Amino acid sequence: MHFRTRAIHVGNSRDPQTGAVVPPLHLASTFVQPGAGVWGEYDYTRSGNPTRAAFERTIADLESGLGALAFASGMAATHAATMLLSAGDHVLAGSDIYGGTFRLLHKICNRAGIAVTLADSTNLNKFAAGFLPKTKLVWIESPGNPRMTITDIAACAKLAHEHGALLGVDSTFATPVLTRPLELGADIVMHSATKYIGGHSDLLGGVLVVREKELRDRLYFIQNATGNVLGPWESYLASRGLKTLELRVREQCCTAQKIAGFLAADPRVEAVLYPGLPTHPGHDLARRQMDGGFGAMLSFALKGDFQAAKRMCESTKLFQLAVSLGAVESLIEQPASMSHASYDAAARAEHGITDNLVRLSVGLEAFEDLRDDLDRAMTAALATNL
Ligand SMILES: Cc1ncc(COP(=O)(O)O)c(C=O)c1O
Repeated sequence: MHFRTRAIHVGNSRDPQTGAVVPPLHLASTFVQPGAGVWGEYDYTRSGNPTRAAFERTIADLESGLGALAFASGMAATHAATMLLSAGDHVLAGSDIYGGTFRLLHKICNRAGIAVTLADSTNLNKFAAGFLPKTKLVWIESPGNPRMTITDIAACAKLAHEHGALLGVDSTFATPVLTRPLELGADIVMHSATKYIGGHSDLLGGVLVVREKELRDRLYFIQNATGNVLGPWESYLASRGLKTLELRVREQCCTAQKIAGFLAADPRVEAVLYPGLPTHPGHDLARRQMDGGFGAMLSFALKGDFQAAKRMCESTKLFQLAVSLGAVESLIEQPASMSHASYDAAARAEHGITDNLVRLSVGLEAFEDLRDDLDRAMTAALATNL
């Protein structure tokens, strides 16, 4: 079956009791057992819940995985993956990663004795030089955040496995519509379900998808032991979001491509970072690795300074000034002061997160309205001499 058909039908069997086409929402925290010490399919919601299991089944199928585990947030999911490691182990991560992941690796994992190196995952020779004897996990994003760099997932999987490490891919920006890292050799896929999967800015969630049972069992043990699960209501919303994921993402990609073209042709813009533009260094790889679209996230550098970029973000009307991404409403933010503020100034400079960078999450509004909104805001931001 095609992706969009599976998104609607896998994990969404009708309710046998009532015939309801949408499975009921199971809010129960505990379940009656057949006998003392005899366990039914579900016993306690931290260990398993039918509504969460339905979402996990659908996303596992869409990512070509064997199983999935849903967490309370994307960060909780990423944290659980790092808990596969022990003190003395090492994580090698790409340098174009979400600020919260940077913070988790440098301010939480380090306290557990896990060392971290960030290296440019788009340059495989440089990236390979980042491996240490105790590297157990490689963590990348493609497209990266906020520079939209494209990393060769299959090549990274090969590299990680040659060094005895697992490859985890934060595929939040790509969604399984555009990239399926497990098919390319990755061991773990992570999504902030808060973003495209939910799609409507009304749920916080995360998910890990894996292709091997042994890894799934280890992660399940960590999840059950630490109690970081997605609640039934959020699981229901995530399942609902998946049903329209492909339609939303494909439409959002088309609009983002047009916005990128508009910005690239505008003399007020220094550079546009969007893998769908032939000028983007990852364009050819993205063509091969991404399935019929380049994502709906883009960043651009305004010809101006920190204040100009700040004013730009504060001047749009349709693009709302907010972190997060992937929903029906378009958002705008300044990475240097918002999503990547947890990088210190030196780290931002090192990773190309310039003060004049603006990041857009393109939603489902009409292209013409979004274009006019950006046009007006650029005029306001650059004309002001405050
Ligand atoms: C690429 C990426 N990964 C992970 C996260 C963290 O997800 P959450 O906010 O659901 O914890 C985010 C959130 O912005 C993100 O953009």
